[in-house]
Amino acid sequence: METPGFTLWFTGLSGSGKTTLAKKVQRELLMRDLNVELLDGDVVRTNLSKGLGFSKEDRDTNVRRIGFVANLLARNGAVSIAAAISPYSEIRDEIRGLHDNFVEVYTACSLETLTERDVKGLYKKALAGEIKGFTGVDDPYEAPENPEVYVDTETEAIEQSTDKIMRYLEQRGLIPAAPGGDISAEEEEKILARLRELSFVS
Ligand code: ADX
Repeated sequence: METPGFTLWFTGLSGSGKTTLAKKVQRELLMRDLNVELLDGDVVRTNLSKGLGFSKEDRDTNVRRIGFVANLLARNGAVSIAAAISPYSEIRDEIRGLHDNFVEVYTACSLETLTERDVKGLYKKALAGEIKGFTGVDDPYEAPENPEVYVDTETEAIEQSTDKIMRYLEQRGLIPAAPGGDISAEEEEKILARLRELSFVS
């Protein structure tokens, strides 16, 4: 089955699981022989968006750049996965408008849980006023009203959320149904090791 290119756009607060899920889905898609590229906010900010900060203007520029590149890839038949907070719905919708196939995934998680987990220690700093303009603390986050996929990363296991996303993509005909003959865990590890060597996954 010839699959169309598309963009899988993760949006959600910092620490809500965008990168983790994006990487997991990326691997699943690579295992199905699809061309996949991951555009992660944290990574893009070290190259394509180097020098940009967190003002509304800079965030909009960052998010628009990711959207632009994602669309270039998607229109050439690849799968683009974007993982950036992308706090403003207007900009996300603008990017949706560029695309033929756009799938928005909202990684929902309460601020309470994010503050408790605080993997990067940034919420603590933001709450103490050491970081100003932190999304969800003293900077806006506009949750999508009608995301194609809603995952609750507070209660769902990673595998559950990943499955939800994969099922959606299958049902929408954006990816072929799961291949019948499952490969062994050993084979999967070999393929992943090779993809890592080639810098396709980290
Ligand atoms: S976006 O708003 O432009 O979409 P992006 O996803 O690229 O954000 O970057 C978010 C990451 O930058 C966070 O996960 C966090 O590690 C870091 N960060 C640093 N300062 C801030 C801030 N003020 N608000 C949100 N994230 C911040």
